[in-house]
Amino acid sequence: MRVKVKKMFTVGVLTVSDKGWSGERQDISGKVAQEILSRMDVSVVNYDVVPDEKELIVQKLIKWADEDKLDVIVTTGGTGLTHRDVTPEATLSVVDRVVPGFAEAMRVASLKKTPMAMLSRAVTGTRGECLIINLPGNPGGVRDCLEAILPALPHAVETIKGRESKLHH
Ligand code: MTE
Repeated sequence: MRVKVKKMFTVGVLTVSDKGWSGERQDISGKVAQEILSRMDVSVVNYDVVPDEKELIVQKLIKWADEDKLDVIVTTGGTGLTHRDVTPEATLSVVDRVVPGFAEAMRVASLKKTPMAMLSRAVTGTRGECLIINLPGNPGGVRDCLEAILPALPHAVETIKGRESKLHH
């Protein structure tokens, strides 16, 4: 009998928030993301807060993906429509492939809670073997979105790393 052993994967949580970065506001979203992710067989190895500056977000995503070789990066915040919201643009500028299903699933789940879910421009994509996922900044939104995608996350990571072929049902 072949036993499938799922390997633990590494995660970074990057909070994108001017107020969180300046200390004006406590970073609850990043903490919520860490708490939800820790329910899975993951190791949250990186955590940081950056302001809503495209270049700083880009630098952090590239370092975590290329140097630290994280399997997954989740960002929180900066996905909306204010002129400071640039997390999707930063993410799109570093990914090689967009993975729309994650963002679609998050918006479907969020729309059941609030029509404001339409305002999040969150994107998901891969950079090499790293999956980068944008979440909205609202702590409840972080919870709704992560819980929606968690069931598909281990298989996504395994597939990206070439450890597992496609699932056939
Ligand atoms: N999704 C869920 N599940 N819950 C929320 O409260 N807030 C929305 C949306 N998505 C929300 C949500 C709102 S009000 C905005 S403006 C956008 O996410 C973008 O938020 P951000 O700029 O903090 O990323």
